[in-house]
Amino acid sequence: MHTSIHGQWSSRLAFILAATGSAVGLGNIWRFPYITGENGGGAFVLVYLACVFLIGLPVMMAEVMLGRKGRHSPINTMSILARENQRSQIWQLIGWSGVIAGFIILSYYSVIAGWALAYIPRLAMGTFSAVSDLGSTQAVAEFAGGQFGALIGDYQQLIIWHTLFMMGTMVIISGGVQGGLEKAVTFMMPALFALLLILLGYALSTDKFIDGLLFLFQPDFSRALTGQAILDALGQAFFTLSLGMGAIMIYGAYLPKDASISFTTTMIVIADTSVALIAGLVIFPLVFSNGLEAAGGAGLAFQTLPIAFGQMPYGAFFGTLFFVLLSLAAWSSAISIIEPAVAWLVETDKFSRLSASLLCGLGAWLLGFVTIFSFNIWAEVYPLASFGVEKTWFDLLEYLTFNMMMPLGGLFMAIFVAWFMNTATTSEELNSSPNSFGFKLWLFLLRYVTPVGVGIVFLNAVGVLKAIGIVS
Ligand code: PHE
Repeated sequence: MHTSIHGQWSSRLAFILAATGSAVGLGNIWRFPYITGENGGGAFVLVYLACVFLIGLPVMMAEVMLGRKGRHSPINTMSILARENQRSQIWQLIGWSGVIAGFIILSYYSVIAGWALAYIPRLAMGTFSAVSDLGSTQAVAEFAGGQFGALIGDYQQLIIWHTLFMMGTMVIISGGVQGGLEKAVTFMMPALFALLLILLGYALSTDKFIDGLLFLFQPDFSRALTGQAILDALGQAFFTLSLGMGAIMIYGAYLPKDASISFTTTMIVIADTSVALIAGLVIFPLVFSNGLEAAGGAGLAFQTLPIAFGQMPYGAFFGTLFFVLLSLAAWSSAISIIEPAVAWLVETDKFSRLSASLLCGLGAWLLGFVTIFSFNIWAEVYPLASFGVEKTWFDLLEYLTFNMMMPLGGLFMAIFVAWFMNTATTSEELNSSPNSFGFKLWLFLLRYVTPVGVGIVFLNAVGVLKAIGIVS
């Protein structure tokens, strides 16, 4: 049995809170509504939910299990487990890909989290209270859009907020598991949830609540989902659950031996999915009642929620609190994004936890400038234009991590666990008999559903299926 040199969660609950803290973040409140809006609602949500429960949950169990068995950073965990199972060291690549993905994700995650920070003073100063005097919904929408446009158009402001967010991340992560990570998450998650429920109450009072509800949950099968939309749903499922890049693996490495993996992961998945769906139920009624575009893109949450706060009683107070909590939720995700890299550096014995944290933070901070400029001075720069791809640097980094590195990382974890580890070991770690129904179902989902599902979605999205004539 291995032990972790980085410490352990103090209890099962601490792990659930920390992993939920990792899962719940910008992915739920910023990304889920906007990607759902861009992909037309209902049918997309259905595919997303299928990906979460049929692929995400089993893969999360596998990833936590790998972590707890190896008890090291994902790179060393994969190396140890490959050796113990007499497999090639090539499996280490899963860990490396996770570390690289972590840097890229943190670099843009911090910039977007900076938007949330930037909205705190705006709400506190009552900037949005003005919307209730504007009269027409069009004027309100223009005001909110203008505020957001002014923020992302000004790279100096973005740099300041990005820097602040990154510094905060480094402070918490250098504190380590129990000192930093655990303390930070215990009170934030419940508070954010409570505030979302208040917002839901407000959304219920608008006259477009039903429209929002139908948009989210009524699939429109007359509009076929494209291969790209399905890949978006899969990528979103992996991202929102923090899967496939080692974050959940390293949190699993700190999980006490006696905690049940299936129970804890199920709780985490349910909590994460509820937050995303509630965020959607808050945002879409607001979109429709204020004449905004559901497909409005990356600014959707930042343009709709302040309007709600501007119009509701005590809105400045609740609005400030909301963006504080959103920033905190982003923080508790950010620390897990970079933890695989920090843990690995510490394991090389060449770095203290503090110097490893500073180094990783500095790297991601510098890379963040690419994202910052993508919204202003590089907004028209498309690096792959000669291949006919109209994507900014930020779009490309987002695509690379969301749609490629995370699903593929998760796919290979599933393959390793289900095909290359023996079932006696895995069933023991999951604390269940190899013949029980639950275990068999889990293995079946990992062995067949995940590879076939991820494989098809992937080949379809990159156009291979089309090229060989399987789909038209
Ligand atoms: N799951 C987090 C969110 O939804 C983001 C994240 C991705 C965290 C990858 C860790 C690893 O915001």
